[in-house]
Amino acid sequence: MRFAASVICAAVLTGIASASPLERRDCSAQIASYNLARRSARGIDVSKRSLYPTMPNQVCVLAPENQRQDWVQMNSSLVRTDITEGQPGILMLLDIGVLDITTCQPVTGAMVEVWHPNQVGDYGETFLRGAFQTGSNGIVEFKTIYPGQPADGANHVNLAVHTGSSMSSGVTHVGQAFFYDSWNHFVLMSEGYNTNSNPTVMNAVDPNYAAATSDGYNAIVDTLSIGDDWPSGIIGYITVGINPNHLVQ
Ligand SMILES: *[C@@H]1O[C@H](CO)[C@@H](O)[C@H](O)[C@H]1NC(C)=O
Repeated sequence: MRFAASVICAAVLTGIASASPLERRDCSAQIASYNLARRSARGIDVSKRSLYPTMPNQVCVLAPENQRQDWVQMNSSLVRTDITEGQPGILMLLDIGVLDITTCQPVTGAMVEVWHPNQVGDYGETFLRGAFQTGSNGIVEFKTIYPGQPADGANHVNLAVHTGSSMSSGVTHVGQAFFYDSWNHFVLMSEGYNTNSNPTVMNAVDPNYAAATSDGYNAIVDTLSIGDDWPSGIIGYITVGINPNHLVQ
């Protein structure tokens, strides 16, 4: 039963990062309208730009056990939406939606932390790190760059979600959001990224990716070009399902 459900969900789920604990709920209608609203707010012609031109008509949430517990308290001086700090790279507007999987409703005022490596794969003390609260629509958007390949796996952005709007409120999710191999490959050929000496790791061979996408979850950022002229930048969408009653930290 479980295997069959996983196969079905894997085929239909888009843009949902893993959450915890084990929970099954069909939030398909809410997620579909949520994602379409995010695109239409951008004036994006979904039939042209989206990797998923039509939203699935069924999405189920099967939360795997939490995979990553290596979160450390972020300095509250990093509460900001522009985390670039002058790091060169391809502009990325990362739109993170937080959905309560117990109600299928967007979560307002949740502090979301993100951190990721620069174009040559290095993490900084302050650059490419930041945190900010979701707005009334449950969405927070960070201005950053597309991450370069890290020393320890496939390209990803680390994220953590707090239960409340404070950096000191409990943490309900710690995870990684990945990118399509094809986009990684494309970006890694571009200036700056092409000096990254870390090995290229495909998603399929990164154990964290396998864990994050188990049980029908999708931890891949839905990526769209900004405008028609690559690489002026990209917009990435990811929805994180959380259970506010479950704390991982
Ligand atoms: C937090 O950041 C501020 C400002 O950069 C710094 O003065 C302080 O030492 C940092 N605190 C910690 C615990 O790192």
